[in-house]
Amino acid sequence: MTILVTGAGGQVGCELVRRAGPLPVVGLSRAALDISDAVAVSAALALHAPRLVINAAAYTRVDQAEREPDAAFLANRDGPAILAWACAAAGIPLFHLSTEHVFVGQGGLPWREDAPVSPVGVYGHSKAAGEAMIRTQLSAHLILRVSWVFGLHGRNFVRSLLALACEKHTIPVVGDQFGGPTPAADLAGALLALAARHLAGEPLPWGTYHYCGQPFLSRSAFAEAVFESACARGMLLQRPQVRVIATADWPGAELRPANARLDCRAAQQALRLALPSWHDALGDMLDEIKAHGARAG
Ligand SMILES: NC(=O)c1ccc[n+]([C@@H]2O[C@H](COP(=O)([O-])OP(=O)(O)OC[C@H]3O[C@@H](n4cnc5c(N)ncnc54)[C@H](OP(=O)(O)O)[C@@H]3O)[C@@H](O)[C@H]2O)c1
Repeated sequence: MTILVTGAGGQVGCELVRRAGPLPVVGLSRAALDISDAVAVSAALALHAPRLVINAAAYTRVDQAEREPDAAFLANRDGPAILAWACAAAGIPLFHLSTEHVFVGQGGLPWREDAPVSPVGVYGHSKAAGEAMIRTQLSAHLILRVSWVFGLHGRNFVRSLLALACEKHTIPVVGDQFGGPTPAADLAGALLALAARHLAGEPLPWGTYHYCGQPFLSRSAFAEAVFESACARGMLLQRPQVRVIATADWPGAELRPANARLDCRAAQQALRLALPSWHDALGDMLDEIKAHGARAG
């Protein structure tokens, strides 16, 4: 009955393990299982005999990917291809995470799942290639495209802002990129709920879906919300000023879609997923940091 989680050391992977509750989750970090190693993946599936694999492993360094395309494609295209092949051989489904970076990011309307992919950078190209590999090899898949993931663990926008707030009075943040910040905790909860329904025998409508936090806002407005919430909890001695800049003014910002809004109606209707409030999740995250301190890594 095991659910195998790959990439268990990442920000979403950590939450999947942490929130598993009574579900029989086995989390394997990169050190325990490299998803681009076909022999190791086959051995892990033989050892744990899972009923389902959730892939939270990925190469997520958007800027660095431009200089390391081979590493990005190895983790984001070849790894998912190997997992899909192994899941097909074992007759089990694969849940996989993808990103708003598969879209070029123009316009103002939320992206639907059937919009043509048009990535800008290496990271987006490698993630789009991974999605395609899964679709061709395994019909029993759920691909959730998510955006702007934040949480207690790992590298993310909120943790970076909190660290910067201790050093700087003024922080430049891009104001012309819009999206829905997705709490890693809620994302993990949604994946685990779907996994539980699969284990209980419910047929899931396989395919590609969008899932992200609500409501949409600009990156700079999100930064303001982070500082406001942190100040309200007495976590910052002084509230930094957000200096709103344009994508063109920040090297590397052009690799991120200006329009990262995802249309999540299909996930709400077909998968019966409730969309998280990023504001509530941000508050919970800050409360936890205040109570226990920030996690390393
Ligand atoms: N973070 C975001 O804002 C965001 C936005 C949209 C979509 N997503 C997607 O959401 C998913 C989870 O992202 P995340 O934020 O949790 O990323 P993360 O914190 O970077 O975690 C990814 C984990 O995968 C591991 N990994 C890398 N290559 C691997 C390999 N070949 N085999 C096994 N593990 C490997 C990484 O280990 P190392 O650290 O040692 O490399 C890391 O622990 C990814 O599919 C990502 O593309 C993320």
